Amino acid sequence: MEKTERIWLDGKLVPWEAAQVHVLTHTLHYGLGVFEGIRCYQCHDGRSAVFRLREHIDRLYGSAHVLELAMPYPRERLVEACLETVRANRLRECYLRPIVFMGDGEMGLAARPATRVAVAAWPWGAYLGDEGMKNGIRVKTSSFARFHPNTLLTKAKATGHYVNSILASREARTAGYDEALLLDVDGYVSEASGENVFVRGALHARRGLPGGRGVLHRHGGRGDADPRARRPAHRRRHAGADHAPPAGPLLRGRARARGALSLLARVPLARC
Ligand SMILES: Cc1ncc(COP(=O)(O)O)c(C=O)c1O
Repeated sequence: MEKTERIWLDGKLVPWEAAQVHVLTHTLHYGLGVFEGIRCYQCHDGRSAVFRLREHIDRLYGSAHVLELAMPYPRERLVEACLETVRANRLRECYLRPIVFMGDGEMGLAARPATRVAVAAWPWGAYLGDEGMKNGIRVKTSSFARFHPNTLLTKAKATGHYVNSILASREARTAGYDEALLLDVDGYVSEASGENVFVRGALHARRGLPGGRGVLHRHGGRGDADPRARRPAHRRRHAGADHAPPAGPLLRGRARARGALSLLARVPLARC
């Protein structure tokens, strides 16, 4: 990754190398932290703009609330921290990563050490590569199911939840694909390992399941309040489907799924 000069840590911009945590940081051990992925784009007039900054910060606070992480700052302070971090690093375009985690000093599952907050920003191109943006990606349906709301609080964008994504992503890449599509425990399309899945503007996820947390990148799709914006899709519906563009801040826009979207065996997903 490309280093930048400063990271906002616990209220101050510090040099990149100084943004360190102790090895006994609680979140490092048990995975209870929350974060966001936000994009800052350079606009046609040359100025930079952060995409839905306020909404991302609201979702961050929502995630923290669900997991009972006490936020040490008001929302406005974090909105400002994101902007300060972009400016301090003189970035025209970048990825922004606010993260909220439990610090050190107490260990064990019942501990609630003080919440710490960091915001880092760095240039990050298309997550699945420029080639993927241009020509599409190959997506494999994962053998790992997206976790059930009775397993984890799926509304939260939590650090520990990403173990599930990493397992799915590794499995897909090892099998020669670019990305993994995760189904929920009932076999409905949930989301990709790092993106939502849309088909013709409609989010493929069931309400209350992963992706049921607020969705911020929809690329021309309908609003969250519109019931047509969500179209639960069982894997059997994908048989013969021809496209499923995943979208999210990591992708920097959206990528098309191409080639075989393997639903256990192979189900073709071609153009979008
Ligand atoms: C697992 C997962 N799903 C979906 C998304 C897309 O999120 P957003 O609602 O910000 O577009 C992301 C982005 O980081 C993600 O990691």
